[in-house]
Amino acid sequence: MRSRIVGTGSYVPPRVLTNADLERMVETSDEWIVKRTGIKERRVASPGEACSDLGVRAAERALEAAGVPAGDLDFILMATCTGDAPLPSTACLVQHRLGATRAAACDVSAACCGFVYALAVGDSFIRTGAQHVLVIGSEVMSAITDWTDRGTCILFGDGAGAVVLSATDEDRGILSSHLHSDGSLGDLICVPGGGSRMPPSEKVVAERMQYIKMKGNETYEVAVKTLVRSAKEALEHNKLSVGEIDLYVPHQANLRIIKAVAHRLGLPMEKIVLNIDRYGNTSAASIPLALDEAVRAGRLQEGATVLLSAFGSGLTWASSVVRW
Ligand code: UT7
Repeated sequence: MRSRIVGTGSYVPPRVLTNADLERMVETSDEWIVKRTGIKERRVASPGEACSDLGVRAAERALEAAGVPAGDLDFILMATCTGDAPLPSTACLVQHRLGATRAAACDVSAACCGFVYALAVGDSFIRTGAQHVLVIGSEVMSAITDWTDRGTCILFGDGAGAVVLSATDEDRGILSSHLHSDGSLGDLICVPGGGSRMPPSEKVVAERMQYIKMKGNETYEVAVKTLVRSAKEALEHNKLSVGEIDLYVPHQANLRIIKAVAHRLGLPMEKIVLNIDRYGNTSAASIPLALDEAVRAGRLQEGATVLLSAFGSGLTWASSVVRW
């Protein structure tokens, strides 16, 4: 038994934050941001709009595309690092709003790798008997972004993407998942405050510890290395050459990172799904959002071989190969 992606969906909040807007908030320029990251604008949730709100809309679209009623879902996996609240899990909020009364639900915390990790968990459940699993990546990164830090605030955006996995006995669907971590690099991207180590306090807020801190240069180096390594591992495992990849959906963190990875792999840019210019880095939402856009643009034909790969805080890196 394999799991097949039978429907995709995505949602981004309507509010657009352009580089020109950021020029008015921190000392930066459109030229610098475009040159160093490829980002032109990003979406930002409205006040009161939370992770589950975005996730539900993406999920509804994925369920509709799949033709699977919410009541048939066995499991809902929500990849996010910006859930509505520490408790309950955001997946449970989504489960209730979708009316997925039979489904188990939990969040998966693996930052920008969250979706690929959750996809692997969903795939495992299907291989052991589940029929339908909903996997969502949803983030309101604007809630943990320090809008006074030009080193990070230019990068992130809000959005959600979702896929429905269904059991199949056909020789297609998810062919492999490779998941990795290295906690020794945990300080490269972190939110130091607000958890049990440093519970919310006036000091945490005064020192802006509830926001993302990132060592950009070091992260950049590791990102290129881990994306190349995980792509090669996935190709070798499936005995595929780079030329046999029809579509590559990388985590959208920085256009320069994606170009460097493509160059090192020898993968032409036409085979890569890019939307970083419009959304920035949406963490766990980035891959399902890009995948849904590719599906709806007709870029995926039956039988196509798709490589998904991500890296992120943790540090984590992960890949998935899917035969469409
Ligand atoms: O999914 C999460 C994973 N995170 C990432 O993938 C992030 C990976 N890192 C990056 O994408 C890049 O390191 C950044 C885009 C964050 C930064 O680009 P960079 O080319 O590495 O720039 P830098 O940090 O080396 O800074 C170069 C210069 C510095 O000025 P000086 O010291 O040369 O005078 C910075 O202070 O650019 C300055 N700078 C800025 N200037 C204008 C840093 N941020 C900005 C800014 N606008 N927003």
